[in-house]
Amino acid sequence: MEKISEGKTKEVFLLDNDHVLLRFKDYVTAGDGAKADIIDGKGVLNAQTSALLFRLLEREGIETHYVGMKDERTMIAKRLNMIPVEVVLRNYATGSIVKRLPIKEGEIFDPPIVEFFLKDDARHDPLLNYHHMRYLKLMNEEEARYIEGIVQRVNAVLTKVVERLNLVLYDFKLEFGRLGNKLLVGDEITLDAMRVREPQTQRILDKDLYRRGYPLEHVKSAYEEFLGRLRNVV
Ligand code: C5P
Repeated sequence: MEKISEGKTKEVFLLDNDHVLLRFKDYVTAGDGAKADIIDGKGVLNAQTSALLFRLLEREGIETHYVGMKDERTMIAKRLNMIPVEVVLRNYATGSIVKRLPIKEGEIFDPPIVEFFLKDDARHDPLLNYHHMRYLKLMNEEEARYIEGIVQRVNAVLTKVVERLNLVLYDFKLEFGRLGNKLLVGDEITLDAMRVREPQTQRILDKDLYRRGYPLEHVKSAYEEFLGRLRNVV
């Protein structure tokens, strides 16, 4: 099967004219690829987590690229024309926003803050506004506003399910692609692209563990625990 692209954590194969296979690798990376390791079985955990969350979004009427699973680490997805933009929604302040702006760790955003970033590791994924996105022919303002609406609907669904796991959703990142005149949620929804914490203890269960240098087994067991809890509620 023809490999049409490969990123840091997934390979993309052409299945037929309208479908691709996304194979989740065991790599974990941080700092725009500056740090990389292999965690055996992480690809399976992320593929399974993504599948459950995409199915949940579909059940809630949010269109995604998800079609089904080919095997435990390989997703069948609609072939989209991906927009190289990361769309981040933040409910609580942490990560890059507290470095960039005079905002303190843990501040609550009500309403949530949505940000767009260019997918460009060499430039460390710079922040984009509507003007940049129009000039770079990434999306027009109407599409950007439509995407903000979808991201808010995804937030409502994810916040609720994460709450049922007795966790709090700090933030998450989505990527979108075009299919005809439609904009669909693509890529993945995993702990690599989402921050979740235990409310009482502030215990972290996401890729921040890796970013902060915790042992790889610790990272893996957090991903396993999250998927285990998720399987019990969806
Ligand atoms: O680093 P930052 O605070 O901007 O990240 C916001 C959210 O987007 C986090 O959940 C993080 O995991 C995710 N993210 C991502 N891929 C990136 C940058 C951030 O999935 N390249």
